[in-house]
Amino acid sequence: MTWEELDWAALDRLRALFLKSEPVKEPYWRNESDLASYDFTYAQRIGWKWDAVLAELGRLGWTPPSGPLLDWGCGSGVASRCVVDAFGAERFGRVRLHDRSGLAMSFARRRAAGRFPGLDVSMDPVGEEAGGTLVVSHVLNELHQDDLPRLMRAVRSAECVLWVEPGTHPVSRGLIALREKLREEFHVVAPCPHRGACGLLPEARERDWCHFFAKTPTEVFTDGRWARFGQRAGVDLRSLPYSWLVLDRRPVSEWAPHRARVLGFAEVFKPYARVDVCHVGATERIDVAKRTHAAVYKSLKATPPPPEIPLPGVEGVEKAEVDEADPASEG
Ligand SMILES: C[S@@+](CC[C@H](N)C(=O)[O-])C[C@H]1O[C@@H](n2cnc3c(N)ncnc32)[C@H](O)[C@@H]1O
Repeated sequence: MTWEELDWAALDRLRALFLKSEPVKEPYWRNESDLASYDFTYAQRIGWKWDAVLAELGRLGWTPPSGPLLDWGCGSGVASRCVVDAFGAERFGRVRLHDRSGLAMSFARRRAAGRFPGLDVSMDPVGEEAGGTLVVSHVLNELHQDDLPRLMRAVRSAECVLWVEPGTHPVSRGLIALREKLREEFHVVAPCPHRGACGLLPEARERDWCHFFAKTPTEVFTDGRWARFGQRAGVDLRSLPYSWLVLDRRPVSEWAPHRARVLGFAEVFKPYARVDVCHVGATERIDVAKRTHAAVYKSLKATPPPPEIPLPGVEGVEKAEVDEADPASEG
């Protein structure tokens, strides 16, 4: 596939379908050209979100257990390719691809086999038995409720689950609801700092959602073809919001009280930065004062912000912050 070969009729049709964000009962991949054009464009954008998730898992020092991988709702297979790239084909040995579209499974199988020679890659039309690692990517908003039990059987058969979805309010809330159902059965690796009930579940927090932003690769800004694609497709490539959940049957310890997960973006004002954080004590909106927490304040200006910050107000954090502060940023 090249930029010149993109099937715009297919991309426009798919985009309209994705924007509707409602359950789709029938397979919508019509031919190879659909999948190849998707894989070259929209799927790359999804891959950038997976890169952010996998980098964060690396930072947390987490790796999946050895054993097979099942990519559920694989589409062109970008998610499993990212995961195998990150952890190595040897770890999984075998990759199975499940989709209700035979065309999608077959496309994804060819792409994975081409990328990872020697890896055992097969199609799995049933998709109920994950065994090792289950990968789910951008499926929830189009999943028909009749199909959720089948997906949940795959989840419950897995040792660990890596799940990435768009960063919209309804999809994030859907993921939070599933987390609630699964958190006693699995340990929660990320993004949550604990395994307890989600801090966004209380009624007063219904308008909030758990979302994050991935970094757009520099080449997207320097390669005019991406800019033209973004304009033509009506997609803002600078913004990559996602929600995610990683579960593991192996024990995972909760974060120390001073560690806070940063949600979304910070709003940075002159004297302070306002940011939503999640920590073992709560999910809350906090103001980080520039005067007392200069380094944390400064870090929150980044786009996207850091994945975690030391929680101001917790013993030891103020002292550490003042010591680390860059004197030039004070004032
Ligand atoms: C938006 S695409 C995402 C594809 C891929 N996971 C990715 O991240 O690029 C959603 C995929 O889920 C598949 N899908 C939707 N409902 C499904 C179901 N009930 N069973 C299996 N696959 C399903 C669709 O066929 C499609 O390939």
